[in-house]
Amino acid sequence: MGNALTRPVLGIESSCDETAAAVLAADGRVLAEAVMSQEREHAPFGGVVPEIAARAHLSHLPGQITRVVADAGLGFADLGGVAASAGPGLIGGLIVGSQIAKGIALAHRLPYVAVNHLEAHALTARLPGLVEGGAPFPYLLLLVSGGHCQCVAVEGVGHHVRLGGTVDDAAGEAFDKVAKLLGLGWPGGPALERLAAQGDPTRYEFPRPMVGREGCDFSFSGLKTAVAQVVARFGQGALPLEAAADIAASFQHAVAVCLADRAAHAMAMMRARAPRADLLVVAGGVAANGTVRAALREAAACRAFRLVAAPVRLCTDNAVMVAWAGIERLRLGLMDGLDFAPRPRWPLEVRATATP
Ligand code: KG4
Ligand code: ZN
Repeated sequence: MGNALTRPVLGIESSCDETAAAVLAADGRVLAEAVMSQEREHAPFGGVVPEIAARAHLSHLPGQITRVVADAGLGFADLGGVAASAGPGLIGGLIVGSQIAKGIALAHRLPYVAVNHLEAHALTARLPGLVEGGAPFPYLLLLVSGGHCQCVAVEGVGHHVRLGGTVDDAAGEAFDKVAKLLGLGWPGGPALERLAAQGDPTRYEFPRPMVGREGCDFSFSGLKTAVAQVVARFGQGALPLEAAADIAASFQHAVAVCLADRAAHAMAMMRARAPRADLLVVAGGVAANGTVRAALREAAACRAFRLVAAPVRLCTDNAVMVAWAGIERLRLGLMDGLDFAPRPRWPLEVRATATP
């Protein structure tokens, strides 16, 4: 049953290494937002350290939330709901964000929404202003981030069907691992893309795992191993910059070819489910990559699909998408109990609790 949501919604994101809060008007306009990356805290360790992430969320979230609510010109009592990522992700951070959200909801008698972080990525395409008239259901989602790599038929709020996914590494993970091999530090995706811009993508013929196979599963570990073997041939610390740039460009090209091929298969599967479906939405940090976007745009055009890629700040983890997912749920009268336990693993198809 529908619900007339009129007041703004607060969104909180703390599932990985971005501490973020946002306030959206009931119609989806962004009233205030903030994202704080913990990159510097984790960089010395070459990846996200869960304990450090949880402590950083704990120290930064309360101040950040107070600021965005004030920036929106509101007090907590003016809100119409509080939504927080409740999984999947690192449990420490999820507990911090969820408990703060529940505290605010309890103190101000507001509805609380436990948001599936993957659904938040999936529904981003429906934010006002991205697709004229709003992205209608059903559409195809390609989610390519550091932790996720999957194709999903998004058929409605809470209605998602996973068509395929990675059998080993996520695409972003492959970027990060290859960047590490090239001595680029962490996170590697953006640095690798910058290096690749100076390289020759045809110099190395890296494998394109899964290309041409039925279905839309992905695999990247063989590609990463092939890169490691080429790097090893140069010997420890002896990789010239020019070769590193060629390796980066060739690797990036191989990933783009794989993603475009898998997306093409997924589009065919989507059409078989819903003949009128014509949107391919790409989300997650890897969607920020220009070569990947160009390959996907071409694959989409070949199948009469339109590619929707949100601006980079909405592709990577943020709280605008969490608040928006909250709005979509609250409009349907869906909210969660304060006893909702955050879930480190939470597949998109599974709705744990939903109390209309
Ligand atoms: O969605 P996201 O911010 O966080 C999650 O993993 O949930 O994605 C981060 C991932 C990292 O693996 C990062 O290296 C990758 O996205 N990434 C990129 C680029 N920007 C971020 N990969 C390739 N090219 C980029 N420009
Ligand atoms: Zn994410």
